[in-house]
Amino acid sequence: MSDLFTDSANEIEEIQQDVYILRSFTSYDSLIADVKAVTTVAPFRFMYTPGGKKLNISMTNCGDLGWVSEPSGYRYAAKDPTSNEPWPTMPHSFKRLAIKAANKALFNDFNPNACLINHYKQGRELTAHQDKNEPDLSQPIVSVSLGMSARFQIYGDSRNNKALEIELYDGDVMVWGRSARLIYHGVKTNRGIPHPILGDHRINLTMRMV
Ligand code: SIN
Ligand code: FE2
Repeated sequence: MSDLFTDSANEIEEIQQDVYILRSFTSYDSLIADVKAVTTVAPFRFMYTPGGKKLNISMTNCGDLGWVSEPSGYRYAAKDPTSNEPWPTMPHSFKRLAIKAANKALFNDFNPNACLINHYKQGRELTAHQDKNEPDLSQPIVSVSLGMSARFQIYGDSRNNKALEIELYDGDVMVWGRSARLIYHGVKTNRGIPHPILGDHRINLTMRMV
């Protein structure tokens, strides 16, 4: 799979302390078969918040554990609550990509076992939140953007801060950890550049160690 990583795979930029971006590190083209294999077995679905509100982006998971939001709370679950079957295995392509990106940001023992997959229609957004349901906060988050571009917002240590906004394009990978592991972050998809295959849809893979 020589085309899994593109030519600019060596460039890494630290955009804020312990927040990194690898531009054009992969592409939807090179992951499409694996994304489809996962989402055929565990289709995207809209989950509900602990407050009982329907989320406005749809989600699924692959790997040993999947992130689930339900009226009873957030949890990592070994089984897909829709099918009551284990989540699909994490494709090697996802894992290799995440490990390679994490290594570039000097996280040398990252070995993700959970991948949350988000699907955004144009105009949908993810409001400021922290990723804090993982037990080992010394491990980073690796986030892969696919499809339509979107605006990623970094609020830092409080959701009330003014966000640093950064446009993420198909194939861009972000890694954050250490002092930035619990940053508040969010996503807006209303002004994106359409993608040749996904059009005005965006898919994000977030890989974690749980
Ligand atoms: C997330 O914060 O879980 C997803 C980030 C993204 O879609 O870029
Ligand atoms: Fe997040």
